[in-house]
Amino acid sequence: MTLKNKVAIVTGSTAGIGGEIATTFAENGAKVVVTSRDIGRAQCKVAEIEENGGEGLAVTCCLESSSQMQSLVDVVIDTYGRLDILVNNAISLPTLPPSPLQDLTYEQLGAGINTNLTNVVALTCKAYPYLKKNDGSILNIGSVMVNQHMLGVPPLYTIVKGAISQMTKVLAYEWAPNVKVNQINPGFTRTAAYKEMGIPDAEADTFFEAFRQFHPLGKIGHPQDIASVAAFLVSEQATWITGMEMNIDGGYSINGRSL
Ligand SMILES: NC(=O)c1ccc[n+]([C@@H]2O[C@H](COP(=O)([O-])OP(=O)(O)OC[C@H]3O[C@@H](n4cnc5c(N)ncnc54)[C@H](OP(=O)(O)O)[C@@H]3O)[C@@H](O)[C@H]2O)c1
Repeated sequence: MTLKNKVAIVTGSTAGIGGEIATTFAENGAKVVVTSRDIGRAQCKVAEIEENGGEGLAVTCCLESSSQMQSLVDVVIDTYGRLDILVNNAISLPTLPPSPLQDLTYEQLGAGINTNLTNVVALTCKAYPYLKKNDGSILNIGSVMVNQHMLGVPPLYTIVKGAISQMTKVLAYEWAPNVKVNQINPGFTRTAAYKEMGIPDAEADTFFEAFRQFHPLGKIGHPQDIASVAAFLVSEQATWITGMEMNIDGGYSINGRSL
């Protein structure tokens, strides 16, 4: 598998699934644009990539800032003159409150949807002409929640992920034959996101053990489980795949025992 000379944006790539995708893409030869809310964290990740012989560019880009999302592609084109791959990975959890949907204010609904859907669609459209020029590839990171909901998951999270799933299908059709658009739906994957969702470190092992049993393959995911498939889906080895959603979830989505 090679991504040699490809320029790839991976949003939210300092840690977790995005961080591992950035590492894996760089190992496969891509120049990786690492984005973060904090330029220091993005620079640290790029330094790590460079120490391992890869190449990267650190850019500040918060999903909540439509202007930063819009200027991201400009920065990449100014630096590299091309764009081949866009991975829409970042999510803003603070804009997706855990309250029941009926209790959210109009402003909260707008913030959640504009941040996690409108800004993602806008970034993707901005990237389109450059991706089209190079027969590029888009990979959206969804969730196993695209086909179900689970109590405890923020309702807007499930709604937004469902919409991203439809975006994958719409763009795969509309932007064919030049741009491939696919999606990975991760199962429960151990990242710091759970801390942000209120699971303290001390309770993390118990929390993940409780969910492990719902994955027929007997383990919670590791970001590398997602990253290796991500690299395949945007590579030259996957030229006849578009509009596809792949559940990378240890079998969670075919488990008949509902949570
Ligand atoms: N972990 C799971 O079990 C799981 C399951 C299904 C789907 N997913 C999906 O996988 C994706 C990654 O999740 P993860 O678990 O890897 O999350 P994570 O470990 O919390 O990593 C989040 C990454 O996103 C960045 N980020 C956070 N808020 C951001 C914002 N407002 N704007 C831009 N970047 C932001 C962070 O960078 P900075 O902190 O440096 O800004 C970090 O690099 C998400 O789309 C999530 O919905 C995860």
